Amino acid sequence: MAKTLATLCVVACVLLACVEQTVPTQAQANKPLPLLHIQPEIYQLGDIKEGETAVATFLVRNNHSQPIELVDIQASCGCTVVKPESFVIMPNDFTQLQVTVDTIAKQSNIRKTISVKDSLGNEASALLIFNVVENPHLSLNRKIKGIFDGKCASCHFKPLVGVQEPSKLYEVGCAMCHGTHAEGGYAPKLRGYASLPALESMISHGIGKPQMPGFAKKNGGPLTPKQITALSKWLVSLPESVGK
Ligand code: HEC
Ligand code: HEC
Repeated sequence: MAKTLATLCVVACVLLACVEQTVPTQAQANKPLPLLHIQPEIYQLGDIKEGETAVATFLVRNNHSQPIELVDIQASCGCTVVKPESFVIMPNDFTQLQVTVDTIAKQSNIRKTISVKDSLGNEASALLIFNVVENPHLSLNRKIKGIFDGKCASCHFKPLVGVQEPSKLYEVGCAMCHGTHAEGGYAPKLRGYASLPALESMISHGIGKPQMPGFAKKNGGPLTPKQITALSKWLVSLPESVGK
Protein backbone atom coordinates (compact mmCIF):
# COMPACT_ATOMS: atom_id res chain seq x y z
CA MET A 1 0.00 0.00 0.00
CA ALA A 2 2.78 2.37 1.04
CA LYS A 3 4.57 1.40 -2.14
CA THR A 4 1.50 2.15 -4.24
CA LEU A 5 1.16 5.54 -2.59
CA ALA A 6 4.81 6.26 -3.16
CA THR A 7 4.46 5.32 -6.84
CA LEU A 8 1.38 7.47 -7.17
CA CYS A 9 3.25 10.36 -5.61
CA VAL A 10 6.16 9.91 -8.02
CA VAL A 11 3.77 9.88 -10.96
CA ALA A 12 1.95 12.92 -9.63
CA CYS A 13 5.19 14.80 -8.97
CA VAL A 14 6.51 14.04 -12.44
CA LEU A 15 3.26 15.27 -13.94
CA LEU A 16 3.32 18.40 -11.81
CA ALA A 17 6.88 19.04 -12.87
CA CYS A 18 5.85 18.79 -16.51
CA VAL A 19 2.97 21.15 -16.07
CA GLU A 20 5.02 23.68 -14.12
CA GLN A 21 7.66 23.75 -16.82
CA THR A 22 5.34 25.66 -19.13
CA VAL A 23 6.48 29.17 -18.34
CA PRO A 24 3.56 31.61 -18.51
CA THR A 25 3.97 34.72 -20.62
CA GLN A 26 3.63 38.10 -18.89
CA ALA A 27 0.03 38.50 -19.98
CA GLN A 28 -0.89 35.02 -18.77
CA ALA A 29 0.91 35.50 -15.47
CA ASN A 30 -1.26 38.48 -14.62
CA LYS A 31 -4.44 36.67 -15.55
CA PRO A 32 -6.09 34.88 -12.61
CA LEU A 33 -6.10 31.10 -13.01
CA PRO A 34 -9.45 29.76 -14.17
CA LEU A 35 -11.10 27.85 -11.34
CA LEU A 36 -11.47 24.81 -13.51
CA HIS A 37 -8.77 24.27 -16.08
CA ILE A 38 -7.81 21.58 -18.63
CA GLN A 39 -4.17 21.34 -19.59
CA PRO A 40 -2.90 21.50 -22.20
CA GLU A 41 -5.58 23.64 -23.80
CA ILE A 42 -4.45 22.43 -27.21
CA TYR A 43 -2.97 18.97 -27.64
CA GLN A 44 -1.29 18.21 -31.00
CA LEU A 45 -0.91 14.49 -31.60
CA GLY A 46 0.55 14.63 -35.13
CA ASP A 47 -0.09 11.84 -37.63
CA ILE A 48 -2.19 8.79 -36.75
CA LYS A 49 -2.69 5.91 -39.18
CA GLU A 50 -6.32 5.33 -40.02
CA GLY A 51 -7.65 2.49 -37.88
CA GLU A 52 -5.26 3.15 -35.01
CA THR A 53 -6.54 4.75 -31.82
CA ALA A 54 -5.56 8.31 -30.99
CA VAL A 55 -4.75 8.55 -27.27
CA ALA A 56 -4.04 11.69 -25.25
CA THR A 57 -3.89 12.45 -21.55
CA PHE A 58 -5.01 15.84 -20.29
CA LEU A 59 -4.97 17.17 -16.73
CA VAL A 60 -8.05 18.73 -15.17
CA ARG A 61 -7.05 21.16 -12.41
CA ASN A 62 -9.15 22.35 -9.53
CA ASN A 63 -8.00 25.87 -8.61
CA HIS A 64 -10.86 26.42 -6.14
CA SER A 65 -10.28 26.39 -2.41
CA GLN A 66 -12.75 23.54 -1.97
CA PRO A 67 -13.17 20.04 -3.42
CA ILE A 68 -15.15 19.74 -6.63
CA GLU A 69 -16.83 16.95 -8.51
CA LEU A 70 -16.86 16.64 -12.30
CA VAL A 71 -20.54 16.45 -13.16
CA ASP A 72 -20.48 16.60 -16.93
CA ILE A 73 -17.78 15.44 -19.33
CA GLN A 74 -18.36 15.77 -23.06
CA ALA A 75 -16.55 15.16 -26.31
CA SER A 76 -17.50 16.46 -29.72
CA CYS A 77 -18.53 13.05 -31.07
CA GLY A 78 -19.48 9.54 -30.05
CA CYS A 79 -16.21 8.15 -31.44
CA THR A 80 -14.35 9.96 -28.65
CA VAL A 81 -14.19 8.39 -25.20
CA VAL A 82 -13.18 10.55 -22.24
CA LYS A 83 -12.29 8.88 -18.93
CA PRO A 84 -11.33 10.81 -15.80
CA GLU A 85 -9.07 9.05 -13.31
CA SER A 86 -11.31 10.43 -10.58
CA PHE A 87 -14.49 12.52 -10.59
CA VAL A 88 -13.66 14.26 -7.32
CA ILE A 89 -10.72 16.69 -7.31
CA MET A 90 -9.32 18.17 -4.13
CA PRO A 91 -8.41 21.88 -3.90
CA ASN A 92 -5.27 22.77 -5.89
CA ASP A 93 -5.11 19.23 -7.16
CA PHE A 94 -5.75 17.64 -10.51
CA THR A 95 -6.98 14.47 -12.11
CA GLN A 96 -5.99 12.88 -15.40
CA LEU A 97 -8.39 12.78 -18.28
CA GLN A 98 -7.71 10.05 -20.77
CA VAL A 99 -9.09 10.70 -24.24
CA THR A 100 -9.25 8.03 -26.94
CA VAL A 101 -10.54 8.53 -30.45
CA ASP A 102 -11.41 5.78 -32.88
CA THR A 103 -10.00 6.80 -36.28
CA ILE A 104 -11.74 4.27 -38.53
CA ALA A 105 -13.13 5.92 -41.67
CA LYS A 106 -11.67 9.33 -40.83
CA GLN A 107 -9.28 11.27 -43.01
CA SER A 108 -7.03 14.32 -42.66
CA ASN A 109 -7.34 17.04 -40.04
CA ILE A 110 -9.40 16.15 -37.00
CA ARG A 111 -10.24 18.54 -34.16
CA LYS A 112 -12.05 17.24 -31.10
CA THR A 113 -13.31 19.45 -28.31
CA ILE A 114 -13.35 18.02 -24.82
CA SER A 115 -15.34 19.91 -22.19
CA VAL A 116 -15.97 19.41 -18.50
CA LYS A 117 -18.29 21.00 -15.92
CA ASP A 118 -17.83 20.89 -12.17
CA SER A 119 -20.28 20.77 -9.28
CA LEU A 120 -19.81 24.53 -8.67
CA GLY A 121 -20.94 25.40 -12.19
CA ASN A 122 -17.57 26.14 -13.78
CA GLU A 123 -16.74 24.95 -17.28
CA ALA A 124 -13.49 24.26 -19.09
CA SER A 125 -12.58 22.91 -22.48
CA ALA A 126 -9.58 21.78 -24.50
CA LEU A 127 -8.83 20.79 -28.06
CA LEU A 128 -7.27 17.58 -29.38
CA ILE A 129 -5.84 17.92 -32.88
CA PHE A 130 -4.44 15.18 -35.08
CA ASN A 131 -4.10 14.19 -38.68
CA VAL A 132 -5.40 10.84 -39.92
CA VAL A 133 -3.19 9.40 -42.66
CA GLU A 134 -3.96 6.59 -45.05
CA ASN A 135 -3.21 3.08 -43.80
CA PRO A 136 -2.83 0.49 -46.56
CA HIS A 137 -2.96 -2.30 -43.99
CA LEU A 138 -6.38 -1.43 -42.74
CA SER A 139 -7.89 -3.97 -45.11
CA LEU A 140 -6.09 -6.70 -43.13
CA ASN A 141 -8.74 -6.30 -40.47
CA ARG A 142 -11.27 -7.03 -43.15
CA LYS A 143 -10.44 -9.56 -45.84
CA ILE A 144 -7.12 -9.71 -47.69
CA LYS A 145 -7.55 -10.14 -51.41
CA GLY A 146 -3.86 -10.50 -52.11
CA ILE A 147 -0.62 -8.65 -51.54
CA PHE A 148 -0.05 -8.05 -55.26
CA ASP A 149 -3.41 -6.37 -55.87
CA GLY A 150 -4.23 -2.73 -56.38
CA LYS A 151 -2.69 -0.40 -53.88
CA CYS A 152 -0.71 -3.21 -52.22
CA ALA A 153 1.43 -3.70 -55.33
CA SER A 154 3.45 -0.49 -54.88
CA CYS A 155 5.19 -2.05 -51.86
CA HIS A 156 4.72 -5.82 -52.19
CA PHE A 157 5.18 -6.31 -55.95
CA LYS A 158 6.95 -3.48 -57.79
CA PRO A 159 10.08 -3.27 -55.59
CA LEU A 160 10.91 -6.92 -56.44
CA VAL A 161 10.78 -6.54 -60.20
CA GLY A 162 14.20 -7.01 -61.79
CA VAL A 163 16.17 -7.25 -58.52
CA GLN A 164 18.84 -9.94 -59.03
CA GLU A 165 20.89 -9.84 -55.81
CA PRO A 166 19.11 -12.42 -53.57
CA SER A 167 19.76 -10.71 -50.23
CA LYS A 168 18.36 -7.48 -51.69
CA LEU A 169 15.39 -9.35 -53.11
CA TYR A 170 14.72 -10.84 -49.69
CA GLU A 171 15.02 -7.42 -48.07
CA VAL A 172 12.49 -5.69 -50.32
CA GLY A 173 10.09 -8.58 -50.81
CA CYS A 174 10.11 -10.98 -47.88
CA ALA A 175 11.65 -9.36 -44.80
CA MET A 176 8.51 -7.40 -43.93
CA CYS A 177 6.73 -10.67 -43.15
CA HIS A 178 9.46 -13.27 -42.51
CA GLY A 179 11.77 -11.06 -40.40
CA THR A 180 14.87 -8.99 -41.22
CA HIS A 181 17.14 -12.04 -40.88
CA ALA A 182 14.60 -14.64 -42.04
CA GLU A 183 14.18 -15.48 -38.36
CA GLY A 184 10.39 -15.31 -38.62
CA GLY A 185 7.93 -12.67 -37.46
CA TYR A 186 4.46 -12.27 -38.85
CA ALA A 187 5.27 -15.30 -41.06
CA PRO A 188 7.40 -18.42 -40.31
CA LYS A 189 11.18 -18.43 -40.31
CA LEU A 190 12.86 -19.25 -43.62
CA ARG A 191 16.03 -20.80 -42.23
CA GLY A 192 16.97 -24.44 -42.04
CA TYR A 193 15.49 -25.58 -45.35
CA ALA A 194 17.28 -28.65 -46.68
CA SER A 195 15.48 -29.04 -49.98
CA LEU A 196 16.02 -26.46 -52.69
CA PRO A 197 13.22 -27.70 -55.01
CA ALA A 198 10.64 -27.65 -52.19
CA LEU A 199 11.54 -24.07 -51.33
CA GLU A 200 11.49 -22.98 -54.98
CA SER A 201 8.10 -24.54 -55.36
CA MET A 202 6.59 -22.80 -52.31
CA ILE A 203 7.94 -19.41 -53.44
CA SER A 204 6.82 -19.96 -56.99
CA HIS A 205 3.32 -21.31 -56.29
CA GLY A 206 2.65 -19.78 -52.89
CA ILE A 207 0.94 -21.79 -50.21
CA GLY A 208 -2.67 -21.08 -51.02
CA LYS A 209 -3.01 -18.09 -48.69
CA PRO A 210 -3.63 -14.49 -49.83
CA GLN A 211 -0.71 -13.35 -47.62
CA MET A 212 1.63 -15.76 -49.42
CA PRO A 213 0.59 -16.00 -53.05
CA GLY A 214 2.75 -17.48 -55.81
CA PHE A 215 5.64 -15.11 -56.49
CA ALA A 216 6.40 -16.51 -59.98
CA LYS A 217 5.41 -14.36 -62.96
CA LYS A 218 3.41 -17.23 -64.42
CA ASN A 219 1.35 -17.27 -61.20
CA GLY A 220 0.71 -13.52 -61.18
CA GLY A 221 3.78 -12.60 -59.12
CA PRO A 222 6.80 -10.36 -59.82
CA LEU A 223 9.61 -12.95 -60.04
CA THR A 224 11.33 -14.75 -62.92
CA PRO A 225 12.49 -18.39 -62.50
CA LYS A 226 16.08 -17.09 -62.31
CA GLN A 227 15.24 -14.77 -59.42
CA ILE A 228 13.39 -17.55 -57.58
CA THR A 229 16.31 -19.98 -57.93
CA ALA A 230 18.85 -17.40 -56.74
CA LEU A 231 16.66 -16.43 -53.75
CA SER A 232 16.04 -20.06 -52.81
CA LYS A 233 19.76 -20.95 -53.00
CA TRP A 234 20.58 -17.99 -50.80
CA LEU A 235 17.94 -18.99 -48.23
CA VAL A 236 19.14 -22.62 -48.16
CA SER A 237 22.69 -21.35 -47.55
CA LEU A 238 21.66 -19.48 -44.39
CA PRO A 239 22.61 -21.18 -41.11
CA GLU A 240 19.71 -22.62 -39.11
CA SER A 241 19.98 -19.89 -36.45
CA VAL A 242 20.75 -16.19 -36.73
CA GLY A 243 24.29 -15.22 -35.73
CA LYS A 244 25.95 -18.61 -36.32
C1 HEC B 1 3.41 1.72 -48.37
C2 HEC B 1 3.90 0.38 -48.56
C3 HEC B 1 2.90 -0.75 -48.33
C4 HEC B 1 1.67 -0.92 -48.90
C5 HEC B 1 0.97 -0.01 -49.90
C6 HEC B 1 1.17 -2.18 -48.39
N1 HEC B 1 2.07 -2.74 -47.54
FE1 HEC B 1 1.87 -4.47 -46.54
N2 HEC B 1 3.60 -4.13 -45.54
C7 HEC B 1 4.44 -3.05 -45.76
C8 HEC B 1 5.50 -3.06 -44.75
C9 HEC B 1 6.64 -2.06 -44.63
C10 HEC B 1 5.23 -4.18 -43.91
C11 HEC B 1 6.01 -4.58 -42.67
C12 HEC B 1 5.19 -4.31 -41.44
C13 HEC B 1 4.87 -2.86 -41.25
O1 HEC B 1 5.77 -2.01 -41.29
O2 HEC B 1 3.67 -2.54 -41.04
C14 HEC B 1 4.05 -4.82 -44.45
C15 HEC B 1 3.48 -5.95 -43.90
C16 HEC B 1 2.40 -6.61 -44.44
C17 HEC B 1 1.84 -7.83 -43.92
C18 HEC B 1 2.35 -8.57 -42.71
C19 HEC B 1 1.48 -8.22 -41.53
C20 HEC B 1 1.93 -7.01 -40.80
O3 HEC B 1 1.09 -6.12 -40.60
O4 HEC B 1 3.10 -6.92 -40.39
C21 HEC B 1 0.79 -8.17 -44.70
C22 HEC B 1 -0.11 -9.39 -44.55
C23 HEC B 1 0.66 -7.13 -45.70
N3 HEC B 1 1.66 -6.20 -45.51
C24 HEC B 1 -0.33 -7.09 -46.66
C25 HEC B 1 -0.62 -5.97 -47.43
C26 HEC B 1 -1.81 -5.81 -48.23
C27 HEC B 1 -2.90 -6.85 -48.38
C28 HEC B 1 -1.75 -4.57 -48.80
C29 HEC B 1 -2.77 -3.89 -49.69
C30 HEC B 1 -4.10 -3.78 -49.12
C31 HEC B 1 -0.50 -3.95 -48.34
N4 HEC B 1 0.13 -4.83 -47.51
C32 HEC B 1 -0.06 -2.70 -48.71
C33 HEC B 1 4.32 -2.11 -46.74
C34 HEC B 1 3.16 -1.90 -47.47
C1 HEC C 1 2.78 -10.21 -46.79
C2 HEC C 1 3.51 -11.15 -46.04
C3 HEC C 1 4.43 -12.11 -46.74
C4 HEC C 1 5.41 -11.82 -47.68
C5 HEC C 1 5.77 -10.45 -48.24
C6 HEC C 1 6.07 -13.06 -47.97
N1 HEC C 1 5.51 -14.08 -47.26
FE1 HEC C 1 6.09 -16.00 -47.28
N2 HEC C 1 4.57 -16.48 -46.02
C7 HEC C 1 3.72 -15.58 -45.42
C8 HEC C 1 2.84 -16.29 -44.52
C9 HEC C 1 1.77 -15.65 -43.65
C10 HEC C 1 3.21 -17.65 -44.59
C11 HEC C 1 2.65 -18.81 -43.79
C12 HEC C 1 1.18 -18.98 -43.92
C13 HEC C 1 0.67 -20.18 -43.20
O1 HEC C 1 1.40 -21.17 -43.04
O2 HEC C 1 -0.46 -20.07 -42.77
C14 HEC C 1 4.30 -17.74 -45.55
C15 HEC C 1 4.91 -18.91 -45.89
C16 HEC C 1 6.05 -19.00 -46.67
C17 HEC C 1 6.76 -20.21 -46.95
C18 HEC C 1 6.35 -21.59 -46.48
C19 HEC C 1 6.83 -21.82 -45.10
C20 HEC C 1 6.58 -23.26 -44.71
O3 HEC C 1 7.57 -23.98 -44.57
O4 HEC C 1 5.41 -23.61 -44.56
C21 HEC C 1 7.85 -19.87 -47.70
C22 HEC C 1 8.93 -20.80 -48.19
C23 HEC C 1 7.79 -18.44 -47.89
N3 HEC C 1 6.69 -17.94 -47.28
C24 HEC C 1 8.74 -17.72 -48.58
C25 HEC C 1 8.64 -16.37 -48.88
C26 HEC C 1 9.61 -15.62 -49.65
C27 HEC C 1 10.90 -16.19 -50.21
C28 HEC C 1 9.14 -14.35 -49.76
C29 HEC C 1 9.73 -13.19 -50.52
C30 HEC C 1 9.88 -13.42 -51.95
C31 HEC C 1 7.91 -14.31 -49.00
N4 HEC C 1 7.63 -15.54 -48.49
C32 HEC C 1 7.16 -13.15 -48.83
C33 HEC C 1 3.69 -14.23 -45.64
C34 HEC C 1 4.51 -13.54 -46.50
